[in-house]
Amino acid sequence: MKIGIIGAGNIGGNLTRRLTALGHDVSVANSRGPHTLTALAEETGATAATVADVARGAELVVVTVPLKAVPDLPSGFLDEAADGVAVIDTGNYYPRQRDGKIAAIEDEGLTESRWTAQQIGHTVIKAFNGTYAQDILDRPGPAGAPGRMALPVAGDDEAAKRVVRGLIDELGFDTVDSGTLDDSWRQQPGTPVYGLQAGTEAVTKALAEASAERTADFRA
Ligand SMILES: NC(=O)c1ccc[n+]([C@@H]2O[C@H](COP(=O)([O-])OP(=O)(O)OC[C@H]3O[C@@H](n4cnc5c(N)ncnc54)[C@H](OP(=O)(O)O)[C@@H]3O)[C@@H](O)[C@H]2O)c1
Repeated sequence: MKIGIIGAGNIGGNLTRRLTALGHDVSVANSRGPHTLTALAEETGATAATVADVARGAELVVVTVPLKAVPDLPSGFLDEAADGVAVIDTGNYYPRQRDGKIAAIEDEGLTESRWTAQQIGHTVIKAFNGTYAQDILDRPGPAGAPGRMALPVAGDDEAAKRVVRGLIDELGFDTVDSGTLDDSWRQQPGTPVYGLQAGTEAVTKALAEASAERTADFRA
């Protein structure tokens, strides 16, 4: 699959490593420009790109930047993506440590991914947001293996969700459909599933036990 990754940090870097290892055609971008990504490109065979170019022709795009940086993404960065492109959002709102207050999330109650979708003008599939970056490298398992780790996946676009769940299976993880973007508070920071390293049954239970109340740690 042709994949564009925006963000080459903890999550973007490890997704670049694993997706290239699986044979996907990966382009990756950060804020400072392709000349700062030569080491990652050499290590993985990915193409270092600008944000403006990274999604060109992509069937899948991953947005994996700090939430506060989402409004800075250039408008139209998805314009030349393939028709029906699936966009993964890995983002989390960390108002205290990193992002500052985003009123639409905190006061108006938008889910973090609904906000991101509005910002970029394209629906997203929320995935990997509660997965430690290191787990992407360390915890894949074969399909059907007992205790294979599972990740919750939320989104409104069922076709895109299928693509994303298929890719996550290829990466070595089960998935649990956690509903629409408006349901995706169930996997936001502070919920039982956030950071959970467990299989389908435990992930399903954790999603069901989530509270819609944002915990104090994740309020500005
Ligand atoms: N770390 C984890 O284990 C983890 C787990 C799950 C979810 N998440 C979430 O996933 C997102 C990314 O986390 P991370 O830990 O991978 O972040 P990170 O290590 O801080 O990396 C952020 C990346 O985003 C790039 N970036 C920042 N602003 C940008 C912009 N305006 N345009 C293009 N690229 C930009 C940075 O590029 P430069 O370096 O060039 O500035 C960097 O490559 C966050 O929302 C985080 O909460 C993280």
